Amino acid sequence: MSKNASKSWPFVPLNSSVFDELEIVSADGAYLVTGDGRRILDASAGAVVGNIGWGRQEVADVAATSLVNLTYALPPFATPERLELAERLTRDWLPGEMPGICFFGSGSEANEAAMRLARQYQIAKGRESRWKIVGRDVSYNGTTMATLAVGGHDSRRKGFEPMMQAMPHAPACYCLRCPFGKTHPSCNVACASELEAIIEREGPDTVAAFHAEPITGTSGGALVPPDGYWSTIVDVCKRYDILLIADEVLTGFGRTGECMAVDHWSLEPDIIVLGKGMSGGYAAMSAVATTARIPQAMAAAGLAPMFHTYGGHPAQCAAASKVLEILDREQLVERVQELGPKLGEKLRSLRSNPFVADVRGRGFLYAVEIVQDKDTLEMFPADAGITFKIMESTVARDVFTYFGGTGTVRDIINVAPPFIVTEEEMDRIVSALDEAITEVCSSQ
Ligand SMILES: Cc1ncc(COP(=O)(O)O)c(C=O)c1O
Repeated sequence: MSKNASKSWPFVPLNSSVFDELEIVSADGAYLVTGDGRRILDASAGAVVGNIGWGRQEVADVAATSLVNLTYALPPFATPERLELAERLTRDWLPGEMPGICFFGSGSEANEAAMRLARQYQIAKGRESRWKIVGRDVSYNGTTMATLAVGGHDSRRKGFEPMMQAMPHAPACYCLRCPFGKTHPSCNVACASELEAIIEREGPDTVAAFHAEPITGTSGGALVPPDGYWSTIVDVCKRYDILLIADEVLTGFGRTGECMAVDHWSLEPDIIVLGKGMSGGYAAMSAVATTARIPQAMAAAGLAPMFHTYGGHPAQCAAASKVLEILDREQLVERVQELGPKLGEKLRSLRSNPFVADVRGRGFLYAVEIVQDKDTLEMFPADAGITFKIMESTVARDVFTYFGGTGTVRDIINVAPPFIVTEEEMDRIVSALDEAITEVCSSQ
């Protein structure tokens, strides 16, 4: 182990032995390699990023060629790399017709850009009063001020509230702890119908869009909406003529077993936000995709999205195109479809652990929710730091699992491995988690 507490990185240590003591010096396939030679199975593909796994030479090669051949071009220029990636996205990955593509550098930037596009669209249509974006509780759309405001991540928002524009929030579809104390299906998806009440309360002519993750990622821990949720939301959005923005930063590109998570419900949102798996960790890239009516209306009104200096960097676009080609060529989304149910079945065996309240998810996106008392669902106190302790304990067993929750909602461990993991590796993840949960929770 190489202690880095005295080094200049990180800015402020996360106060966990995992980050404070380990140095990751290389990675290959589904493994992280530490400075002292340990091989740690990456059970969350980094921050749910590395769908194709790490260390692919052919991705590095195309990026290197582009760096030498072109290096940089101002974002509004067409380049072969940008055109190829945009074409791949619209042809192979996005639902319906989504010809409006803009590239950004992170999921946060792209989500914020999606909000600006929704606002610009409403202005272009002459509806100046529509500016509110309805977000959702227990969610995460990024760390810019606007995305923190729309998202529902209490601990990341804390302290910044006076600096941000408050936005309305619809309830999370969090069946284990239903915000209405109801049970599906007799609840009639009250969490979805509540969107209508919110729009009425806010004033329908003030609302521009509803913005949510189709399946809540790490903040809620793979909250899969129950049947009827998305059809109700779509119906409300249509009736009030508000845009639907799907944040697929974490769920896109096969993570949940479909190209996009919206495909599980055959949804065709007006705007889709892409990131993470699009470039699989090989480039710092994100994108916004829209249906034709948005760029058409904006162009007619003389409005355009502002670009960022490095948006759609050619080498990054080339790397992302290669990542998507690999997903396709190696049929990795099909692999998730085939093996996702097995991963789910193996993880669900953890339900017999006395501290596991829930195991939920879809495809290769799962979460385990830990509680002090399974009958009452009482959580461990926040200052017990259970999530980080469990992560440390799985890493001690050479398996990296990823912390989730929002602070208020907590002790959620995410499992979202690269699509290349084997069934034996899945078994290792499950047994490391089982032992870690028992070790940490029974000593409280
Ligand atoms: C659903 C979702 N949206 C947006 C973001 C923000 O992306 P980034 O960290 O690339 O800014 C994340 C990151 O975890 C995410 O999970």
